Amino acid sequence: MTKQFVKSLIDNATAPYRSAGRFAWHFARGKLGGDPVFAGLLEHGLIPDRARILDIGCGQGLLASWLLTAKAMHEQGNWPAHWPKAPNPTSIHGIELMPRDVERAQRALGDAATFTVGDMCKTDFGKADAVVILDVLHYVSYEAQNDVLRRVRDALAPSGTLILRVGDANGGLPFKFSVWVDHLVTFVRGHRNSRLYCRPLAEWRLALLGLGFNVETLPMNQGTPFANILLIAKLGGKAVVQAA
Ligand SMILES: C[S@@+](CC[C@H](N)C(=O)[O-])C[C@H]1O[C@@H](n2cnc3c(N)ncnc32)[C@H](O)[C@@H]1O
Repeated sequence: MTKQFVKSLIDNATAPYRSAGRFAWHFARGKLGGDPVFAGLLEHGLIPDRARILDIGCGQGLLASWLLTAKAMHEQGNWPAHWPKAPNPTSIHGIELMPRDVERAQRALGDAATFTVGDMCKTDFGKADAVVILDVLHYVSYEAQNDVLRRVRDALAPSGTLILRVGDANGGLPFKFSVWVDHLVTFVRGHRNSRLYCRPLAEWRLALLGLGFNVETLPMNQGTPFANILLIAKLGGKAVVQAA
């Protein structure tokens, strides 16, 4: 039943990408169909309700499409009984380095969400209730990562949430495999200087604790060969991860 539901959620969330071109649609199908994080965010109720959401390194805006589709399906009464209610975002803003990705996001989603071309190291984050950063921070230096995390903390509301996915550098073979895939993908996307700045999970936790976040972790690599972990970091209270 849930598997069937997730399949129709993927169908609906990828449909807008048909208008953004063949590549955009196939990429959306592959990513939303193969990455457990998207269903995980909903299943565990990780995105707060009525939140201004900032998606840093948003690519072609798949998270925005996913959340907007989830909201619509929940409103139609098409929703798994054992999942928490779908979040009803106040706004969704994506920041992305690559202009081509932002163009695809805008073509697919129109003004249902806002997308900005920009480098997360320089672009103003505005104010947000929830910040999501999935598989992005390791592209910039450790110093720049710390600065982004500090600016995220300052951009968040007093009880705001940061959802951060990283690879665990102590994750053994699955981690090595994800680094290899990452190098390949960044090379294919035209980046020639693709040094990655990874850290063990314990270091990510310490960096967030040092900024005043309460942190919980959730493995987010089910069905994939990677060593990806989700850190749910909350200001002003304990992070709550609902049981699946
Ligand atoms: C692995 S992809 C993840 C995309 C998206 N977060 C997702 O999970 O589907 C990493 C994204 O981060 C973007 N990115 C890398 N460095 C960035 C920077 N300095 N500022 C903004 N975006 C960046 C890349 O262009 C790419 O779209």
